Amino acid sequence: AINLTGKHMLTLLDYTVEEIDFLLTKASELKLETQKGEVNELLRGKSLGMIFENASTRTRVSFEVGMTQLGGHALFLSPKDLQIGRGEPIKDTANVLSRYVDAIMIRTNSHQTVEEFATHATVPVINALTDAYHPCQALADAMTIKEKKGDLKGLTLVYVGDGNNVAHSLMAVGAKTGMNVTISSPKGYEVDSNVFARAKEQAKGTGAIIQVEQDPFVAAKGADIIYTDVWTSMGYENEQSKHSQDLKPYQVNEELMAVADSKALFMHCLPAHRDEEVTSGVIDGAQSVVYDQAENRLHVQKAILASVISHN
Ligand code: CP
Ligand code: NVA
Repeated sequence: AINLTGKHMLTLLDYTVEEIDFLLTKASELKLETQKGEVNELLRGKSLGMIFENASTRTRVSFEVGMTQLGGHALFLSPKDLQIGRGEPIKDTANVLSRYVDAIMIRTNSHQTVEEFATHATVPVINALTDAYHPCQALADAMTIKEKKGDLKGLTLVYVGDGNNVAHSLMAVGAKTGMNVTISSPKGYEVDSNVFARAKEQAKGTGAIIQVEQDPFVAAKGADIIYTDVWTSMGYENEQSKHSQDLKPYQVNEELMAVADSKALFMHCLPAHRDEEVTSGVIDGAQSVVYDQAENRLHVQKAILASVISHN
């Protein structure tokens, strides 16, 4: 049997194929329960500490509501108010918080910070977005694709845009589920070569093809899913005009969707900028599943919380 109690959720590459399958199945079960109005207080009396160094709509609200729905409690912790903002070491913060809460969720620019936090925490640490990974997002995306298309194995997802956190996590989830993932990014915005190599290595277990293709129209040909993200990620605001210029040829528009499969889904982690990385016609059109993705963040995170937090 799968037992994830006490396990951190840092990159997804640290989970086995079976563990990911388990989380996706659990998320679907919890979603069904919630839809039927059943109450499942698995985490009654449990607390989640949530540290946000950056803005968030979906992640914050879905984690907080998820804990409430499971009978527990979530604390929103801003570094502006925590002593960490005045220089208290991560080591001390991680140790002390572990004495109060049952799990810690962190959104911070530096992936290194989350790894360091996890080293010192004695409760599970969940990565809620770093410059390198967005594992909760990729799991919600896999759940959404499964709902819309059935089995993930053999499908092809093409990510068009900045090859950073979301792209990395999509490669990871593809490698673990057997879904082919192609990343199409301009020069200077390519995926990290180490993450790419690790995803390709792990894909051997499922047969997924993980690749890069610089030409978005070549990449998108026949795709089952076209995915994009913002041109300017958090922390890069001062490079916005350069990013817009460099990524312009990678806009997801009607022409690009036309080369994908006629039943292709359009996906975006949100927040989106209409008529920048995606045209209004595409994101507001019939192929778009962006709100389903956002909803599934709630169900997937409940599955993660219920699995990693120790309870009887
Ligand atoms: N997709 C996502 O993580 O959204 P937020 O930044 O609003 O949490
Ligand atoms: N790549 C984006 C994702 C936001 C959910 C960012 O890092 O800002």
